[in-house]
Amino acid sequence: MLKAQRAVAGSRITGLGHYQPERVLTNAELATMVDTSDEWIRTRTGIIERHIAREDESVADMATAAARAAIADAGLEPDQVELIVVASTSVMDHSPNVAGRVAAALEMTSPVIIDVNTACSGFEHGIALADAAIRAGQVERAVVIGSEKLSAITDWTDRTTCVLTADGAGAFVLEAAATEAEIGVGPTVWGSEPTMSRAVIVEDETGNKFSQDGRMILRWAMSKASGITRAAVEEAGLSMDDIQVFVPHQANLRIIEPLAEQLGLTDRTVVTDVQVSGNTSAASIPLGLSKWWHEGRIPANAPTLLFGFGGGFAYASQVVLTPNRKP
Ligand code: ACO
Repeated sequence: MLKAQRAVAGSRITGLGHYQPERVLTNAELATMVDTSDEWIRTRTGIIERHIAREDESVADMATAAARAAIADAGLEPDQVELIVVASTSVMDHSPNVAGRVAAALEMTSPVIIDVNTACSGFEHGIALADAAIRAGQVERAVVIGSEKLSAITDWTDRTTCVLTADGAGAFVLEAAATEAEIGVGPTVWGSEPTMSRAVIVEDETGNKFSQDGRMILRWAMSKASGITRAAVEEAGLSMDDIQVFVPHQANLRIIEPLAEQLGLTDRTVVTDVQVSGNTSAASIPLGLSKWWHEGRIPANAPTLLFGFGGGFAYASQVVLTPNRKP
């Protein structure tokens, strides 16, 4: 018989961090670049402005900044983190992977470095992997990062996509829970819809630029998202009444608002950061939650429903507890 590793009860989130590039691109400015208008973008998507990275600013630079902030928020030094998981779909430089670049930038000693590419649900996949590694007793502390430079894979002459995409990063620190009562990461409900595998494409055929079937995704979200998120709440042993905060992928207010209504969550805190950050794919959920957390808009220890969906066509959802507030 092989010796199994020491298992622990579960993990919990102890720190949140994010990073957004300085440059803000407004709808008015976009309307000077392509045939669109502030009114069309606001009414169809809710987006008012977004942040765009400098040419010399990479996915890894933004990932490092978000990870540094999350690790400091957890009251840790980078070297106390043993696992780095980075979710991104806009990586240009493949080796070292982004997690390896973050490890080098933070001068860490020997962390495990894993990159995940499941596009807009990549961060929630990363949470599932880090939680599993902690529960298996392989590591005690992990940082999960979503970081995207979608501006680099955007066709800035295509009005159907360039009004949506943006850049940024967000990160959570996960640590082993000492007891069952302290567990703060619920089971992940995850999977994919292979019949929709071509709903989001970044490949040679599109000149490695992002393209999507927006109508198909809207229809999918309105018919399938509520079942997936309800299952995640059930798997966590909770009911929808227990959920205090809802953080869906920030793709479009026209998905976020009706979904919150379907789930009966409109009277809870529904994180809507898409208006000022655009769609940042794998970064959108940790970026939105971290911003609102640090602005004091999210309660401590609050059951929080995360739901990512997009390229693949993949989805993942889980309930997590927000950290305790440090005195
Ligand atoms: N400005 C002005 N007009 C535009 C623009 C624009 N920027 N873009 C498209 N139009 C026009 C179209 O050409 C079309 O004109 P037509 O009727 O004369 O042909 C009309 O507006 C309607 O276009 P639709 O594509 O049908 O618009 P829709 O209401 O579906 O909105 C959108 C498009 C915003 C992309 C929407 O479908 C959407 O958000 N879908 C969900 C996408 C999503 O959630 N993706 C998540 C996964 S991918 C990721 O997150 C990276």
